[in-house]
Amino acid sequence: MTAETLQGTWRELHRVALDRLGSPREARWLVEEASGRPWPACGDDPVGEQPGRRFGAMLERRSTGEPLQYVLGSWAFRTLELLVDRRVLIPRPETEVLVGVALEALAPRASALAVDLGTGSGAVALSLVAEHPGVAVWATDASPAALDVAAANAAGVGGRAARLRLALGDWWAALPGELRGRVDLVVSNPPYLSAAELAAADPAVRDWEPASALEAGPTGTEALAAILAGAPGWLADDGAVVVELSPPQVPEAARLARAAGLGALEVRADLAGRDRVLVVRR
Ligand SMILES: C[S@@+](CC[C@H](N)C(=O)[O-])C[C@H]1O[C@@H](n2cnc3c(N)ncnc32)[C@H](O)[C@@H]1O
Repeated sequence: MTAETLQGTWRELHRVALDRLGSPREARWLVEEASGRPWPACGDDPVGEQPGRRFGAMLERRSTGEPLQYVLGSWAFRTLELLVDRRVLIPRPETEVLVGVALEALAPRASALAVDLGTGSGAVALSLVAEHPGVAVWATDASPAALDVAAANAAGVGGRAARLRLALGDWWAALPGELRGRVDLVVSNPPYLSAAELAAADPAVRDWEPASALEAGPTGTEALAAILAGAPGWLADDGAVVVELSPPQVPEAARLARAAGLGALEVRADLAGRDRVLVVRR
């Protein structure tokens, strides 16, 4: 019995995946995705031709090192199940924390205007729309391919997508001028690796996820600098900026925020207790 023969029961294919990948968790996910049934309940079910072929293809892709999230084609993020593929960054747990902080910043408002700069899969923008009933969000990206994924994910949140607008362009340049001075919340998980950090990154990240979603430039703070420098021109009087960054970038990001005239600085930790989110206000 091999995955390539694509015959037998799901229990047998599960065994093949387990032997090949060495991960019970991943073997279960592949079986559940291909069979459309929970594991181990599907164990004695015969494998149909198409599900068997799909399982074999997924196992092959995972065996070559492609991230599990791309192989499965979707991934959970807060309350959402998002489509993900190589056009977008795989949404991370630390970005779920970013969204939590952004929602706190929005909490006192019954209605609000928010901007998600560098939306990728739409994870942040769609979570805001899904979890705050009164927020309207402009979600931008410089990558047309990423915006296609965000649009597909917007279709998955039903009528709530009416409060989402997608815009293509370089950071602030993507937004219509009429939003100047009206934005209550700017949220962003920008690229924040330096070129050297990306070169040294885990191959599962470096070789599969879009470099434009990961690398900001020679120092790693280039995107943060563009976002913070532009923010005062777009924020409403009591508006907030909530950005994700790497822990060693906090002092430089704080300096950039102050240089832009932003204050009331607050730093929040991720689930591992590392400084991960910077909040500044106008
Ligand atoms: C780290 S990813 C974040 C994706 C998504 N928000 C998330 O948290 O999963 C950064 C995103 O910024 C986008 N980006 C990179 N450079 C940009 C630029 N100059 N202007 C706008 N977006 C940009 C990338 O295409 C990518 O989708």
